[in-house]
Amino acid sequence: MSISIAREGDIARVTLDNPPVNALGQAQREGLADAVAQTNAMDGLRAVVLHCAGRSFVAGADIREFGKPPEPPHLPDVLAQIEGARVPWVAAIHGTALGGGLELALACRYRVAARGAKLGLPEVTLGLIPGAGGTVRLPRIVPATQALQMVAGGKPVAAAQAAEWGLIDHLADGDALEAAVQFAATVAKRRDPGPVLARPVQNPDPAAFDALADRLTKRARGQHSPIEAVAALRRALTLPAPEAMAAEREAFLRLRDDPQSKALAHVFFAERGAARLDRLKGVAVPAPERVGVVGGGTMGAGIASACLLAGLRVTLLEQTADAAQAAQDRVTGILQDSLSRGVIAPDRHAALVAQFTATHDPTALADAQLVIEAVFEDFDVKKAVLAQLESVTPPECVLATNTSYLDVNALAATMSDPSRLVGLHFFSPAHVMKLLEIVVPDGVSDTALATGAALAKALGKIMVFAGVCDGFIANRIMSAYRAACEHMLEAGATPWEVDAAMVDFGFPMGIYQMQDLAGLDIAWAMRKRRAAEGKRPADYVRIPDILCEAGRFGRKAGRGWYDYTTGKPVPDPEVERVIAAESARKGIARRPFTAEDIMARILSVMQAEGAAILREGIASRAADIDVVMINAFGFPRWTGGPMYLRDAS
Ligand code: 3HC
Ligand code: NAI
Repeated sequence: MSISIAREGDIARVTLDNPPVNALGQAQREGLADAVAQTNAMDGLRAVVLHCAGRSFVAGADIREFGKPPEPPHLPDVLAQIEGARVPWVAAIHGTALGGGLELALACRYRVAARGAKLGLPEVTLGLIPGAGGTVRLPRIVPATQALQMVAGGKPVAAAQAAEWGLIDHLADGDALEAAVQFAATVAKRRDPGPVLARPVQNPDPAAFDALADRLTKRARGQHSPIEAVAALRRALTLPAPEAMAAEREAFLRLRDDPQSKALAHVFFAERGAARLDRLKGVAVPAPERVGVVGGGTMGAGIASACLLAGLRVTLLEQTADAAQAAQDRVTGILQDSLSRGVIAPDRHAALVAQFTATHDPTALADAQLVIEAVFEDFDVKKAVLAQLESVTPPECVLATNTSYLDVNALAATMSDPSRLVGLHFFSPAHVMKLLEIVVPDGVSDTALATGAALAKALGKIMVFAGVCDGFIANRIMSAYRAACEHMLEAGATPWEVDAAMVDFGFPMGIYQMQDLAGLDIAWAMRKRRAAEGKRPADYVRIPDILCEAGRFGRKAGRGWYDYTTGKPVPDPEVERVIAAESARKGIARRPFTAEDIMARILSVMQAEGAAILREGIASRAADIDVVMINAFGFPRWTGGPMYLRDAS
């Protein structure tokens, strides 16, 4: 049974135990309703303490039930019973209290939380809004602007912050349960704040509320749930509680049937499923604690910072003392930035800096458990680095390459022990981007692969396994749709039309603004290299080369696909002239493209390339491709990804 009750004197302890995250399914709702009835019937009881077994308080409603008709007892009814119980309930929160879990805590009279706990209403990220009173109870405890931020923003807040807002009655430095039991013993001496629903809403700064509501509405970019969340909060501020509760439930049930929430549930499970690889079942390796990084440029510095921020010890190897110093400056700059943005506390910052060494002495890597190379994208340079690493590191040290396009099997073949090499393809900036492609060369050992996966987990990355091919999953699909977009330019579209169509579809930015941001020179160098290797396609589009030849390297050069001389991306007639001249040179009659034409083309190319990737076994599941496209290129999450869209249509 997932709910148990123990009585200690005049306190009853209700324990919910539903591993792994204590999600509330039908059985737990029924168990809680039963616990209310049982504790209501206990004589001489002073309070009930509600706590959870395992690593966390309740992580929300059971998402696996979402495809099915809701079964009684319904969560709002159970929570009403807790709120109206004969004696006050005290929630003892550790780990995370999310969604229906926080709503459960809001129905309790008091909340005690461990200092490390996090509280949030992330329903919006699943295409939903809270469905058990969260939007109505929260602004009766915390100011409406903060409530709106939690409901429509979806990000959890730390217990200390929640305590400042009044959401937590007591912050426990030690064990939350112990503190809650002590707290419960004192409830008789406290002023009873009454049931939350009976309290007035708090909206001390309506102008700030409206400004935030506007911002969140604009940011929604076609996603329904943030707009519904704003509407629910507005109702909570204006309607009597019972009416606001009924309207919230109606919106929640409606959103559960919205294709966006089904798509977002697909992504939720896809992101977790992508981390599973059959051959690694039962292979247990510890996460590496001492990591080496070779190359301290854009990627090496980002990878080193990601490892440091995860608490690992990092040694970075560069070619010369000056380059090592430059890498040191880059990494400390990133850590300083994390400190300024409040990502890390000052004391932690100092500890992280102390965990880092930049050097040009290869023997400094002698005790590393994993070394990731991020040197120039050149086969011979990487081959030499791998040979050097094989000579200075112990044989059990796993070696990884961050190559974007080189053949990892061919690189492994140059090594004396190819089983040590795994591909770890990070995305830039590596300390920010959540995705990590784990590239699986033919001869890699289970241990090396599992070590790569353990690192991904330690860094909090979303991992996807990819086979060896040109560009793996992400860059291969990107190359395909980039080429399709270039052909559309030659055929009559403009870069601004392509970008507008993508933004309209839900991408944060279009492909041309993205290229301008990354810099056009890197891809140009790669194209030149490919041309030298005789790998230029017959239908090659020269437009980007012509822009690069004119020094239009993107935002950093002030001009790329767009003109940035005013600071903002402005469509440039000069680029249109270059494009029109290329169409004329190839004898292509230009025709107009609608946004629908453009997106239909982009999607069909992504889906066709995705299908080829699946056929070739480069990805093992269509859902893995969705995870990659969403997390590497901002494909709108609420559509479920290109392969989900293909299968849903
Ligand atoms: N329902 C069902 N399963 C859930 C779940 C949920 N709410 N939350 C997590 N799980 C499962 C995961 O699928 C995973 O299963 P697996 O081991 O089979 O892959 C397992 O629990 C562990 O999850 P994670 O791998 O994500 O573990 P982490 O420790 O990294 O993260 C977490 C834990 C922060 C709780 C994260 O799982 C999470 O964010 N969960 C979703 C929280 C959420 O969105 N809650 C709102 C639900 S909607 C709701 O409550 C509606 C209400 O208003 C009525
Ligand atoms: P970069 O040019 O910024 O940095 C490369 C660094 O490697 C330089 O600092 C150089 O001094 C150092 N280096 C070269 N040879 C070395 C050696 N023998 N020993 C030690 N250090 C050496 O390059 P960037 O952009 O960081 O790329 C590195 C790798 O990461 C490449 O393989 C690239 O394809 C890949 N990558 C790049 C991404 C990007 O967005 N820039 C994204 C994902 C992967």
